[in-house]
Amino acid sequence: MSYPKIVAIDGPAASGKTTIANQLAERWKYLFFDTGVMYRAVTWLALEKQIPIKDEPAVSALAEKIQIDIEPSSKDDGREYDVLVDGVDVTWHLRSPKVDAKVSKVSAYPAVRKALTKQQRRIGLRGKVIMVGRDIGTVVLPEADLKIFLDADVDERARRRFNQRVDRGERVEFSKILKKLKKRDKIDSTREIAPLCAASDAVVINTDTLSVIDVLSEIEKYAQESIKD
Ligand code: DC
Repeated sequence: MSYPKIVAIDGPAASGKTTIANQLAERWKYLFFDTGVMYRAVTWLALEKQIPIKDEPAVSALAEKIQIDIEPSSKDDGREYDVLVDGVDVTWHLRSPKVDAKVSKVSAYPAVRKALTKQQRRIGLRGKVIMVGRDIGTVVLPEADLKIFLDADVDERARRRFNQRVDRGERVEFSKILKKLKKRDKIDSTREIAPLCAASDAVVINTDTLSVIDVLSEIEKYAQESIKD
């Protein structure tokens, strides 16, 4: 069976991109590349180095020199891959509430986007990749062979995020998660550079009432159609 060489999956936070892309990559033996971790890595390192997030030149300089590696998962603790920043395993640090709260601001800085987009394009162009983000189909890899935009209602997304956190043993409040998601949606979709939006040639799938299996079947169907075109 053959598949489209480059697949872009975009969509808002907690729309199911990671789960879907990860499973699709496993089925097809493709690389799963979650570009959000790069923005998270820059945010984490800035916080770690006590660089004020509002100091755009300093955060941008960090993005230009940071070394981010994404490697196959080395631990059986629920992670999908290891993320190394300058050689240090920071996988779970990247999901902390502190990083969650600041990453949208960091990802709105043009110089940060420029530096990270360049690295993402280089990896994506190698092919056999399912690349996940906000601007993959529109900016990073507009030449992708298949573009999917996954969407879901914000309450449904908040519920999924809440369940994930509870499953991980965290104590969380639904209303706070919902509020934060709304805030991130707003920053991601209104920023000047590469805002979150579906590419004009993307297939939009609303996952509100679909199971993971349903979404995968839909994508498989579009994948075969994209090869025939
Ligand atoms: O998918 P995520 O929640 O890990 O993304 C973290 C942040 O990075 C989010 O605010 C949007 C931003 N992001 C982006 O602007 N472009 C991408 N290609 C991926 C993520």
